[in-house]
Amino acid sequence: MRSLSTLIALLCVVVVFGGLSLSSNAQLDPSFYRNTCPKVHSIVREVVREVSKKDPRMLASLDRLHFHDCFVQGCDASILLNNTNTILSEQQAFPNNNSIRGLDVINQIKTSVESACPNTVSCADILALASEISSRLAKGPDWKVPLGRRDGRTANRTAANENLPGPSFSLDRLKKAFGDQGLNTNDLVALSGAHTFGRASCSLFVDRLYNFNKTGKPDPTLDTNYLQQLRKICPNGGPGSTLANFDPTTPDILDENYFTNLRAKKGLLQSDQELFSTSGADTISIVNKFSSNQAASFESFEAAMIKMGNIGVLTGNRGEIRKHCNFVNQKSAELDLGSEESSEGMVSSI
Ligand code: HEM
Ligand SMILES: *[C@@H]1O[C@H](CO)[C@@H](O)[C@H](O)[C@H]1NC(C)=O
Ligand SMILES: *[C@@H]1O[C@H](CO)[C@@H](O)[C@H](O)[C@H]1NC(C)=O
Ligand SMILES: *[C@@H]1O[C@H](CO)[C@@H](O)[C@H](O)[C@H]1NC(C)=O
Ligand SMILES: *[C@@H]1O[C@H](CO)[C@@H](O)[C@H](O)[C@H]1NC(C)=O
Repeated sequence: MRSLSTLIALLCVVVVFGGLSLSSNAQLDPSFYRNTCPKVHSIVREVVREVSKKDPRMLASLDRLHFHDCFVQGCDASILLNNTNTILSEQQAFPNNNSIRGLDVINQIKTSVESACPNTVSCADILALASEISSRLAKGPDWKVPLGRRDGRTANRTAANENLPGPSFSLDRLKKAFGDQGLNTNDLVALSGAHTFGRASCSLFVDRLYNFNKTGKPDPTLDTNYLQQLRKICPNGGPGSTLANFDPTTPDILDENYFTNLRAKKGLLQSDQELFSTSGADTISIVNKFSSNQAASFESFEAAMIKMGNIGVLTGNRGEIRKHCNFVNQKSAELDLGSEESSEGMVSSI
């Protein structure tokens, strides 16, 4: 009897200390699921490949979803949480509402992953993996995705509105938004290169075509032929929801065209062209380098995606592995009595 209670006490100490060391030191690791879900990469790849055959734009949409997750309280899959009594979803934040795509694809991936390895792979890791696989399938950079993120139990719509950069941001504001996340100017330019695939709605750049900065004239940093092209796609007063390709030549390929386009005054958003048209800016030489050196642009993109994927991650026994990506897990009343950290530590270790 006494030895049993000693054993239990000892076990508790092991559990608590094990949990503490995990949550304070845990690093992401590309082989995190090697033993627990070795097929996770191929499962994600198959779903993304199938979906993108019918909808090539989905590769861009999935890439963006990971970005919009990581800039808001870290890469914790908070963007996937739906409205409930306790959650004010980020999906209706201004940069996301009627704009983000691919939530259903992530749910499809999660369903397949759950049937192969239940309660093991987080939705935040699925977003990171889907983003890398999308980049690969779009003939872009590839990298080994560090894994082991856990899912948050909260969302923050205010943070989504405040942290995500807008299409009319000046270079200073872009740098500030990225700097706040620990990303530097090289990261900003490299990651903006994602705007070489996917689409943007006319409403987000139409002012540049007809009435830039309330001047009654187009944006002077816009090439005149490109201006005419865009005016055909987005007539003045036309529907704001019409889509334009970010890259007119290879709209679904993740290549270095973005940077050559900027040099030719063919950036689609003001925030794109700012990287090259702001006089004296340190971004100009980076754009020049990336446009003439695909290897350099890919290398910086890979490194910056890994850096972005590390923002504010929950590891060890923090957060949880959601069963459904759109909802936090139900907790029983008695577990809710303990503090979040310790109750989860016990559950995950038993
Ligand atoms: C630098 C600041 C950025 C700004 C101001 C910005 C803004 C935007 C805007 C306004 C759109 C169009 C949304 C719509 O039409 O509904 C868009 C699309 C997109 N963004 Fe960004 N973005 C930025 C950075 C990034 C980064 C870092 C990534 C990824 C690493 C990214 C990936 C994408 C992709 C792939 C699309 C196309 C999505 C699709 O077609 O579904 N963007 N972005
Ligand atoms: C979550 O919300 C999205 C819209 O934001 C909706 O399309 C989706 O069906 C919802 N998911 C569930 C499981 O209700
Ligand atoms: C999101 O978009 C829908 C549909 O256009 C709109 O009815 C709703 O008011 C928007 N939500 C927010 C919070 O702006
Ligand atoms: C949500 O984000 C805002 C803006 O970043 C922040 O001020 C606020 O404290 C956050 N709310 C919670 C509950 O974390
Ligand atoms: C827009 O106009 C304001 C005031 O007229 C000016 O200070 C600002 O620099 C302009 N912005 C751009 C991007 O031209």
